[in-house]
Amino acid sequence: MIYLDNSATTKPYSAVLETYTKVASRYFANPSSLHAFGQKVRELHEEARKQIAQLLKVRSDELIFTSGGTESNNLALKGIAYRYKNRGKHLITTQIEHPSIKEVMRELEKDGFTVTYLPVDENGVVRVHDFEQALRKDTILVSMMHVNNEVGSVQPVQEIGHRLRAHQAFFHVDNIQGMGMCELEMNSIDLLSISGHKLHGLRGTGLLYKKKGVELHPEILGGGQEGGIRSGTENTAGAVALAKALRLTFAEKTNKLKQVLAIRDYLLQELEQMKGIRIHSQKASIAPHILCLSASGHRGEVLVHALEQKEIFVSTTSACSSKAKLASSTLKAMGVSDEEATGAIRISLSYENTLSEAEQFIGALQEVIEKINEVVK
Ligand SMILES: Cc1ncc(COP(=O)(O)O)c(C=O)c1O
Repeated sequence: MIYLDNSATTKPYSAVLETYTKVASRYFANPSSLHAFGQKVRELHEEARKQIAQLLKVRSDELIFTSGGTESNNLALKGIAYRYKNRGKHLITTQIEHPSIKEVMRELEKDGFTVTYLPVDENGVVRVHDFEQALRKDTILVSMMHVNNEVGSVQPVQEIGHRLRAHQAFFHVDNIQGMGMCELEMNSIDLLSISGHKLHGLRGTGLLYKKKGVELHPEILGGGQEGGIRSGTENTAGAVALAKALRLTFAEKTNKLKQVLAIRDYLLQELEQMKGIRIHSQKASIAPHILCLSASGHRGEVLVHALEQKEIFVSTTSACSSKAKLASSTLKAMGVSDEEATGAIRISLSYENTLSEAEQFIGALQEVIEKINEVVK
C-alpha cells in the first residue's frame, strides 16, 4: 500500500500506540482522585504538558488538552468572541479556512458578530495589504491557518502577527497542517491549534496553546479541569501519547524534512511534464508536504478510485469536501474554474513516505489517465 493522504490523517507511530496502551492500562486512576494512585496519574498528565511545552518553547500553563483540531479551533474562536465581546464584535478570517473555523464564524455572525473573510491570490495566499485594510478598531480576533489543507499554501502569519502587536485583537493560528513541517515563531501568536492525528499521534488528541494572560470563555462546564475551560476527566493516556508523537516528530526533523522536500520536488518535476496536468500548488508558496493538481477532463473522484485499485491512496482536496462531494473552496477562492476545482486531487506526504513510493505513484497516475482516456475515446 502507498499512503499519500497524510493531510487527512497519519498512521500512528507504533511507539505512540505502545505508550497509549501502557498508560491507559497501568495508570487508569482519575487524576483528580486524592489517593496516591490518582496523584501518580496527575503527575503523568502534567509531565506530558511540560514536555510538550518544552518542545513548543512555551509555558506549560499555556496549554489546554483537547480532543483534536476541530475542538481547539472552536474553543479559540468562541472562547475569545464571547469573553471579549464588550471590546468589539468584528472578527477577521480567510476564505480558505477549514470548516471548523468557517462554520464557527457563521455561527458567530448569527450571534451578532461581523466577520471579514479575506480573499487569497492565485497561489492561495492572503495579501497582507488586504488584511491591513480589513483591520478595524473594534476587531477582537484574527484567525488564520498557517498551511492550507487543500493546496498547501503557506500564509503570512508571521507578518500579520507582527502587525497585530500594537492592536487589541488576539491572533489565532490553525497550525494543524503546519506543525512539524513549517517553522513558526510563537512570539506574536496568542492562540494556536494542534491536532494529534496529523502528526502520527492518535485521534481524539489535540491542543490549544493560549498565551499567558489571554482569557477564554469556558467551553465545557463541570469539574473545572484544564484550567476550568474544558471540564471533564482528563485523557491522560492521550496526553502522554501526544507528547510522544510530538517528540518523535521533532526528532531529526531537519533530515526528515529534507526527505519530504526531495519527494515533493521529484513529484513536481514529473507532474509538470505530464500532458493535461495542472498543478495548483506553487512551489514558492507551499509547505513541503501538500500538492494539489487536476488532470484535464478527469473527475477527482474517478482518479482517486482508479488509484485505489492499485493500492495507492490519495484524496480529492480535503477529507471534508470530498465526502460532501463539494468543489474545493480553496481552489474556488484562488479563481480556479468549477470544473477544475471538482476535478482536483491532493497528494499529502509524511516523514514516512519514500522516493520509491513517489515513483510508483507517478507510474500509476500515468497508466490510470491513459486507460481512462482510451475508455472515453
Ligand atoms: C487546517 C485544518 N484545520 C482543522 C482540522 C480539523 O482537525 P481534526 O481532524 O483534528 O479535528 C483539519 C483537519 O483536516 C485541518 O486540515
